[in-house]
Amino acid sequence: MASKSILSVDDLSDGDLDRLFCETRRLKASGYKKKWDAVLMTAFFEPSTRTRLSFEMAAHRLGLRVSTFDQSSSSMLKGEGILETIANLQALGPDILVIRSKIPLVKTAQKSSVINGGDGTNEHPSQALLDCFTLLEHFNADDLSGKNILFMGDIIHSRVAKSNIKLLKRLKAHITLLSPSQLMPELSLGEDERAHSFAELSKDYSAIMCLRLQKERIEGAKSYPADFSLNLKNLEKLGQNCAVLHPGPMNIGEEIALEVANSPQSLIYRQVENGVPMRAALINHCLS
Ligand code: CP
Repeated sequence: MASKSILSVDDLSDGDLDRLFCETRRLKASGYKKKWDAVLMTAFFEPSTRTRLSFEMAAHRLGLRVSTFDQSSSSMLKGEGILETIANLQALGPDILVIRSKIPLVKTAQKSSVINGGDGTNEHPSQALLDCFTLLEHFNADDLSGKNILFMGDIIHSRVAKSNIKLLKRLKAHITLLSPSQLMPELSLGEDERAHSFAELSKDYSAIMCLRLQKERIEGAKSYPADFSLNLKNLEKLGQNCAVLHPGPMNIGEEIALEVANSPQSLIYRQVENGVPMRAALINHCLS
């Protein structure tokens, strides 16, 4: 049987998306069954809390065995490179290999299904799936037509923004990017509008996705621009009931204030909660 790999949201058809959202809703409502005799391996070459642990939680809930690659005790310390390491992990034969990498992932002819857990500034498909699921759940809707979604912060380095914008456009949302010019990508990501200050924003927004400054990808000055911080005053400018999302990790007091993260409008911990059933649905998709 050919393996199903998900390196980009483009690897999922509209039918796949419907099935994944439906399966996530089913898992949330009815719970998990330990149904797979399979191994999921995680190999994270960049730090992670939510993505790695939610894939591992989901795998445990579905009865898979979990194997975790640990870079700090691996033969990378003896000079083995990341591509050779990944090729060796695939040769070990896990049924699913979840990889987070500094460099873009490419498809290979290996038997394992590879799921991209975030590759550099490229894509983060499972994050976009759980974010879109969280929005659909919040609005109790099958698509996001008529919804204005704002992305704010370090967009140029954000794999979360790139995967999300692709998926949100497929769900018919209207997308605005808000960022200082040095953190705005030169080329369009498929958004509908751009703004460079809160004062330029002219709509009521249904949701805002805050993005931290990716200091690990920036040389030199590393301070988040204070004018782009989501505090209660700036949140008010976005209209009533604007839902607040953040993929994490949050840098409280930089891109987002604590009162906003903990406000009734915040869906941030719902995103984390939804990460487990969404990733369980992805595992079922890859194995079935
Ligand atoms: N959103 C996200 O990718 O979080 P982690 O880096 O903790 O996995």
